[in-house]
Amino acid sequence: MEFTGRHILSVHQFQRPDIDRIFDVADELRPYAMRKRITRVLQGAILANMFFEPSTRTRISFASAFNLLGGDVRETTEIRASSLAKGESLHDTARVLSGYSDVIVMRHPDAGSVAEFAQASRVPVINGGDGPNEHPSQALLDLYTIRSELRAQDKAVNGMKVALIGDLKYGRAVHSLCKLLALYDNVRFNLVSPPGLELPAEITAELQNRGHRVEFYNELSAGVNNMDILYVTRTQEERFPSEEEANRYKGLFRLNQSMYTQHCEPNTVIMHPLPRDSRANAQELDDDLIENPNLAIFRQTDNGVIIRMALFALVLNIVDAVHDYSHPVTWYTAKRDVPR
Ligand code: NCD
Repeated sequence: MEFTGRHILSVHQFQRPDIDRIFDVADELRPYAMRKRITRVLQGAILANMFFEPSTRTRISFASAFNLLGGDVRETTEIRASSLAKGESLHDTARVLSGYSDVIVMRHPDAGSVAEFAQASRVPVINGGDGPNEHPSQALLDLYTIRSELRAQDKAVNGMKVALIGDLKYGRAVHSLCKLLALYDNVRFNLVSPPGLELPAEITAELQNRGHRVEFYNELSAGVNNMDILYVTRTQEERFPSEEEANRYKGLFRLNQSMYTQHCEPNTVIMHPLPRDSRANAQELDDDLIENPNLAIFRQTDNGVIIRMALFALVLNIVDAVHDYSHPVTWYTAKRDVPR
């Protein structure tokens, strides 16, 4: 697809060559993310980073990605602090903000809201998460991480075995990831969720229609057996009708080191979009896994910056110009390129 000037709203926009292109650009931009070189290619450009739902890593990594390409960032972090709280329509907000910026990232609690917003924007809009619907940049960074973790074990995405664990009903990261993985060949999916929090039927059907093998589990120990990747998710409590309802599901599945040792193949990669809920009643991914070298959660977050740089570079069409505006880093830099 042609990326220049495009909105990035859903992973359904991508085919395999588009994903390869994004990953190639990400690889090319890695030296800038790793503070080996500086580029000022986006000097003068402004990102409007609009987060109308809580966010730490998505918001900061989009902002860092834009800064690392030389651009400036303006942000709003709450509906309360924006004119949406005064009854302004998404249409009007989009027209206004697109007059102030060159690209917009938006997160919003309602499914479909970012697409509606994009219709009125004169600059590209990137979906930073629209309710339970989609989270395209997260899925891209997850897939980029999966690819690199599997490569380190001489395996490929085609033919891999992945267990998706937890709240598969409301987890937008997992929804987008499934739609991306559907584009690959012969993936085996273990869908491990408590009854009531299953993956939406249309996404399961999409996987099956593409010929992937899908199995359903409501017990963690059986679901994690003989997998290459475990992708654990948080109970999305903010999407439940009530707190009591959400609490019914919390803490049902707890992946910890002893579960891992007993039931997983050695070298099974552990992933999570984060944040993980570390409160005593939840702990879907226990802190005792921190020494496990297959815990890839912080390699995932590091990759978030690189993937988001690639998305900006593609929609703003500066891939070829990046190196022309660059020079080596002169300040002290911490070691970032952590080996696996
Ligand atoms: C995810 C999200 O917001 O959908 N977080 C993130 O962006 N890394 C997952 C979550 O909140 O559980």
